[in-house]
Amino acid sequence: MNKIRIGIIGVGIIGKVHLDYYAKIEGAEVVAAADLNEAELQSVAEKYHIPHTYTRFQDLLQRDDIDAVDICLHNNAHAPVTIEALKAGKHVYCEKPIAGSYIDGKSMVDAARQYGRKLHIQLSYLYAKETLAAKR
Ligand SMILES: NC(=O)c1ccc[n+]([C@@H]2O[C@H](COP(=O)([O-])OP(=O)(O)OC[C@H]3O[C@@H](n4cnc5c(N)ncnc54)[C@H](O)[C@@H]3O)[C@@H](O)[C@H]2O)c1
Repeated sequence: MNKIRIGIIGVGIIGKVHLDYYAKIEGAEVVAAADLNEAELQSVAEKYHIPHTYTRFQDLLQRDDIDAVDICLHNNAHAPVTIEALKAGKHVYCEKPIAGSYIDGKSMVDAARQYGRKLHIQLSYLYAKETLAAKR
């Protein structure tokens, strides 16, 4: 199976939750991580065996061996970082809420269409049996 190569941006509380899940998914491989907090970044990279680390997320985005970027930053950082990632040719999985404002959220959706990449927001309840039943 071809693995999806992931770069994670933000390794705080929720970033570590995502890393725990990736560790259980055979088809996912986290190859790079970025965070402003260098000490925490190094400790997380060691624990989850992430080979490449960056304190500037822009440096992570320059890698040409990453399929998708997982954005686990504070809400107001979702739009600027997502748009840069889409522009760099990466698919984006971003934490909820989509952004801090409607206009920021819309600009993310528009950028995904413009650059032809996938954008998904982490809303796991969408896949709950109850939600699917309500939709039906
Ligand atoms: N904590 C939760 O239970 C929870 C649950 C659901 C959704 N979320 C969402 O997850 C997102 C992150 O929340 P969190 O609780 O993990 O926050 P957090 O503060 O624990 O982690 C954010 C991380 O981003 C890093 N960071 C900030 N600016 C950066 C930048 N420019 N470049 C690189 N790294 C940067 C910080 O150093 C920190 O490690 C938010 O959108 C939040 O709404 C959190």
